[in-house]
Amino acid sequence: MFGYGMSATPRAAFLLVFVLGSMPAGQQQEQVQQVTVNERVNVSLYYESLCPDSVRFVINQLQPTWQSMAPYMNIRFIPFGKSASGKYSDGTIVFFCQHGPKECSGNKMQSCALSLLSTQDSQVQFVTCVMSKSDPSLAGPQCAAQVGLNYQDVEQCYQSSQGTNLQLAAEQETNKIRRPLRFVPTVVYNDHLDQRKQDDSLDDFKGALCKHIAQPPPECSE
Ligand SMILES: *[C@@H]1O[C@H](CO)[C@@H](O)[C@H](O)[C@H]1NC(C)=O
Repeated sequence: MFGYGMSATPRAAFLLVFVLGSMPAGQQQEQVQQVTVNERVNVSLYYESLCPDSVRFVINQLQPTWQSMAPYMNIRFIPFGKSASGKYSDGTIVFFCQHGPKECSGNKMQSCALSLLSTQDSQVQFVTCVMSKSDPSLAGPQCAAQVGLNYQDVEQCYQSSQGTNLQLAAEQETNKIRRPLRFVPTVVYNDHLDQRKQDDSLDDFKGALCKHIAQPPPECSE
């Protein structure tokens, strides 16, 4: 449920077709080996719905970078941040969030919507939309409409144990990285937290991403 979802044809496949079409037969094999070196960079974003730094990152870094770099990355959103779950004596699960109950509600809503959005592009659009609103916890219906998602499905997930389970999974994912997170948002490349890369990403996400690409595409120098 927190997988990288669907994505467009990998960059390498595009190049493969191009190279095969334009190279003399004898040189094909060597060229093909070179161009398949680029793998998509796996980027995981650990964030919170009401966190101003998360809002800034999504709007100023992630969204513009996605515009040009989508073919080179897989993005995974984990809306949990510094939240924590607890359990009442009757077994009911409760979440505590850095910016209060509204943030918990916004995180759960995003977990639900993300689980229902099958393309990374629609996920980026949705998260950007929600994080742009002054009250992300209430932005659901409007942003769902923008990506063609039926908000009733989100609501159904939100009200049921499914929403709770998605947030518990997000908590586990987050704890695997660092417990508690030192800073929100935290950006992780290929499942490995590196403090310097994290710091660089907040100022220049595209630059930090490009450093992970073996053969940086022209978009990296724009
Ligand atoms: C990215 O994630 C996919 C799917 O989990 C994996 O197959 C691939 O090896 C990862 N890429 C890198 C560069 O770690």
